[in-house]
Amino acid sequence: MFQTAALPASASKQDVYASLAQQLSGLLEGEPDAIANAANMSALLYDLLPDLNWAGFYFMRGPELVLGPFQGKTACVRIAVGRGVCGTAVERKASMVVPDVHAFPGHIACDSASRSELVVPLVKNGEVLGVLDLDSPSPARFDEVDRQGCEQLVQIYLNASELP
Ligand code: SME
Repeated sequence: MFQTAALPASASKQDVYASLAQQLSGLLEGEPDAIANAANMSALLYDLLPDLNWAGFYFMRGPELVLGPFQGKTACVRIAVGRGVCGTAVERKASMVVPDVHAFPGHIACDSASRSELVVPLVKNGEVLGVLDLDSPSPARFDEVDRQGCEQLVQIYLNASELP
């Protein structure tokens, strides 16, 4: 059984992401199922990244995003491209770091506790296949270190998983 290893509270964010990258690689090794891997990755991030109230995936289904595996409160199921933080990340093919979700025009509030958000698109061969979405109850929870760290984790997910 895969055993996750928490890091001491004194660990730097860089150390946390280095450890998460190592643990995620081990967790996904030899498993190509994209849904199973998304489920386990959501659980790993929700367990080990501090101060989150939601961690999960949306996948492109036709012209819109549809909810995938996640940890946290129940969430909205369908998000159109260009709508909310997730749909904007798809439209721009770029990660979105939103320090104050209330100041983001069109933000979709799934959990009213959310104050800040990080969304990383899943881009393979130039095509957006979905997004990884992290929410926090703290304002400005996510910074450039989180963006880069999560982009690296998404790359590990994409390399391990069979996606169209
Ligand atoms: N806040 C997101 C919607 C998804 S939930 O946060 C899980 C958005 O604005 O796209």
